[in-house]
Amino acid sequence: KKGEAWSARFSEPVSDLVKRYTASVFFDNRMAQVDIQGSLAHAEMLAHQGIISAADYAEIQRGMAQIKGEIESGQFEWLLDLEDVHLNIEKRLTELVGDAGKRLHTGRSRNDQVATDIRLYMRGAVDDIIGLLRELRLALLDLAEQHADTILPGFTHMQVAQPITFGHHVLAYVEMFGRDAERMIDARKRINRLPLGAAALAGTTFPIDRLRVAKTLGFDDVCRNSLDAVSDRDFAIEFCAAAALVMTHISRMSEELVIWMSPRVGFIDIADRFCTGSSIMPQKKNPDVPELARGKTGRVNGHLIALLTLMKGQPLAYNKDNQEDKEPLFDTVDTLTDTLRIFADMARGISVKPEAMRAAALQGYATATDLADYLVKKGLPFRDAHEAVAHAVRTCVDKGCDLADLSLADLRAFSELIGEDVFAVLTLEGSVAARDHIGGTAPNQVRAAIAQLRKELN
Ligand code: ARG
Repeated sequence: KKGEAWSARFSEPVSDLVKRYTASVFFDNRMAQVDIQGSLAHAEMLAHQGIISAADYAEIQRGMAQIKGEIESGQFEWLLDLEDVHLNIEKRLTELVGDAGKRLHTGRSRNDQVATDIRLYMRGAVDDIIGLLRELRLALLDLAEQHADTILPGFTHMQVAQPITFGHHVLAYVEMFGRDAERMIDARKRINRLPLGAAALAGTTFPIDRLRVAKTLGFDDVCRNSLDAVSDRDFAIEFCAAAALVMTHISRMSEELVIWMSPRVGFIDIADRFCTGSSIMPQKKNPDVPELARGKTGRVNGHLIALLTLMKGQPLAYNKDNQEDKEPLFDTVDTLTDTLRIFADMARGISVKPEAMRAAALQGYATATDLADYLVKKGLPFRDAHEAVAHAVRTCVDKGCDLADLSLADLRAFSELIGEDVFAVLTLEGSVAARDHIGGTAPNQVRAAIAQLRKELN
């Protein structure tokens, strides 16, 4: 009988349904390469410590090299009977090199093996994601730079608030994705610890050298408690939380892109290669990519909750429950990786319509705050200035005109302090240029922020 590494203990085989239910090989085989990497580091240490012979180690190396080739070329036969990636590879190794293969698992359990594999896999994934966040930020910086002077209305409550520059708006996302990258970098520190050596839960009776294995595999340190090493998946939960925040930022941006591309708003167009049509309505061009990203945020948020829920009821140490960590984790990695890649690309496929943005900024009394600030600078207390301008806006609403359309005489009816120089502050350009401090929307501040961010990213 092929399979079960523990079969002598049992008097009957598991049913086919149970076999299928307990197997993970068809989703955990994506860890094959890191599983081999981990096994080779373990075997090297066993040989160095004299736990296995140098000849056995050489045989293990030879067998693993062949298995690697078989997996890469798609020839490797994954068997459900062998439950998971670990047993599949170990069994094949034994087929290829005999007893040396059977010695590989000395001083090791699948419990510390799988925890090691996940960490190695995640380390690679997190490094990719950090790189992709950087790509996205660079693309957004280019977009911001092209539109450091482009004016659109800024909104609060989806109502026109104050004029801002589009560059400034885009930089808000560059900040968000910057913090996301910091969170990934931070999560990586706790991912990059070695569980191997914890064995099943208590450690092993063999004279192993865990620090040696950690060094071989590029881990910063070893997990210091064997029970903790095999049983906690907090590093994966942390990653999923950071991923959920990335997707939350992506989703907010998507929501804006969808609104901006609506003909009712018309602030932007998105290149055709990111949009699709309708099977019935010939005129349609839909922003599918941002809509789908907004939708996929739901699944990533769900994976975070799945992992938290998976963990919360588990007594120490390892429980089979943990096998359920993989699909949510892998799907989070895949979703995030694809989404970031597509968004970095799409950011370069956004075309801005400055006239539409400008026209929108001219509606809704976006410079009312500027008029109030003007009165304050002439000596009026802010609350009184606010009231005077509210009266002016009320009059404009009744007349159906803009603040800048009122004559000087009209304006002076609201405050004697208003003079000829008021019209300069009522312009959109004057409004944005006046917000000239760190973090403000003035075009020269936007340019300074871009220069600073470029320096940080290079
Ligand atoms: N496939 C298992 C997992 O994902 C590997 C560890 C199984 N260990 C065990 N004692 N059943 O967690």
